[in-house]
Amino acid sequence: MPLARTRAVALVGVQGHLVEVEADLGQGVPSYTLVGLPDTSLSESRDRVRAAVLNSGQPWPSTRRITINLSPASLPKRGSSFDLAIAAAMLAAQGAVPAGVFDRAVLLGELGLDGRVRPVRGVLPAVAAAARAGVESVVVPATNAAEAGLVPGLRVTGVRTLRELVALARSEPVPEDAGDDAATEPSAAGVDADADPDDVAVSVAPDLRDVLGQATARFAMEVAAAGGHHVLMLGPPGAGKTMLAERLPGLLPPLDSDAALEVTAVHSVAGTLPPGTPLVTRPPFQAPHHNASVPAIVGGGSSQVRPGAASLAHRGVLFLDEAPEFAPAVLDALRQPLESGEITVSRLVAQVRFPARFQLVLAANPCPCGLAVGNGSDCRCTPMAKLRYLGRLSGPLLDRVDLSLEMLAATRAELREDSAYVEDTATVAARVIAARERMAARLAATPWRANAEVPGHVLRRHWPLPWGVVAAAEQELDRGGLTARGVDRVLRVAWTLSDLAGRDRPDSGDVQVALQFRGVRRWAA
Ligand SMILES: Nc1ncnc2c1ncn2[C@@H]1O[C@H](COP(=O)(O)OP(=O)(O)OP(=O)(O)O)[C@@H](O)[C@H]1O
Ligand SMILES: [Mg+2]
Repeated sequence: MPLARTRAVALVGVQGHLVEVEADLGQGVPSYTLVGLPDTSLSESRDRVRAAVLNSGQPWPSTRRITINLSPASLPKRGSSFDLAIAAAMLAAQGAVPAGVFDRAVLLGELGLDGRVRPVRGVLPAVAAAARAGVESVVVPATNAAEAGLVPGLRVTGVRTLRELVALARSEPVPEDAGDDAATEPSAAGVDADADPDDVAVSVAPDLRDVLGQATARFAMEVAAAGGHHVLMLGPPGAGKTMLAERLPGLLPPLDSDAALEVTAVHSVAGTLPPGTPLVTRPPFQAPHHNASVPAIVGGGSSQVRPGAASLAHRGVLFLDEAPEFAPAVLDALRQPLESGEITVSRLVAQVRFPARFQLVLAANPCPCGLAVGNGSDCRCTPMAKLRYLGRLSGPLLDRVDLSLEMLAATRAELREDSAYVEDTATVAARVIAARERMAARLAATPWRANAEVPGHVLRRHWPLPWGVVAAAEQELDRGGLTARGVDRVLRVAWTLSDLAGRDRPDSGDVQVALQFRGVRRWAA
């Protein structure tokens, strides 16, 4: 049968699209043509597939005019994950495997020249797309089988070599030597298969217990985790800002199953899935360096568009340490994901979308020298320099930061004595979960799940508070110390405080505390 077909998946961002792979062995001048908008690495599949087929002891139709067609032709197709499907279609077209055996399956995988099947990125979103399209059987590299197995309702076959695939297709026993050392190959996803998964499980996750003193900032982290609020921390070098930010993901509730799949899909496409962890169940943490480029933050790349730090932080925490040092273009680029929870990267052939619903944590020194804290007597910066420094953060970013706080360095006494009674992450995380349950119950009939997501006008209309409770905020508004948007921020935080305290609605004390958490705005605005 000189014509055979099978299927693969093309990924555009984290969206998979089913692609039909046809192999035709015609008469005429021997040649090999790949049609259907392939990129360079896909065009190179010819040499990989040919070597892999021959080195697996299968014939190569070198006297034929070979045409491989990937359709729909309009869809851009990138990368090496089509190798396996192309090889399978070629083998079927030559009759090396029973006719029709791969017709209804989806095959994903890169081929090594020796016929080894190498892991590829993006298996989870690709297999999920196949399942949505009604496919029942997928063949993936053995290393990616656990990841593919996360998608329910599919028969997943993991193969280590092309030889093994041929044996399975012919219903023959799988050869003994199939991919003897393939399992220890470092994967394309950057996953070190040698790493003992147990090492990762016991990795020393940062615990809130390590942060001494800083009672207000510790509490701010708890409030941020409970309500999903973005945070700004201003403080001198060494106050513990970075320590606190790193501990926020530990306070967040574990990802629910939908969120876990979304996060895993992004990390699968980026090749950053932690070794031995096919499913990411904890909120991720991303802390890009302040000289990171716009593509590094929002995603990009010339041939294959990869998610950036903002997407890798999806459903987790994006921490911008030394935030004023980030390029204005980078801070500006965060505006879109903060508004819509996703990022669109436009390319000539396609628009690529990545999810990016993260919790933003900004840390900054209060001024270029970092000493303008407390009464600021040690600071040598001019008022102008100070304003200009934090002014870089104004606008769309600060508008969305509900919690901002000023920190002083921890004192020696605090560092010495606090270790006896500071709370650990588990204790605080339990309160966060209880608060989240309260707000989820209250917000059940709305599209929102956390207080930080609820627009101010909705909050005021549906859950109005007596004048006595909001008086402090309103007085501040009258005095010009708070804008209308600022009042919304205070209300959101007050609701989170009451959820944490197990109250039905905020009292005036909650509003007072919430007002304290917008303290540094006088520097920044
Ligand atoms: N509150 C604290 N409790 C315990 N250790 C602390 C505390 N604050 C700082 N440290 C110690 O100081 C180190 C530096 O802290 P961290 O990096 O969090 O400071 P920072 O505020 O981010 O400073 P910078 O502005 O320079 O980035 C920590 O690794 C820790 O050892
Ligand atoms: Mg720091």
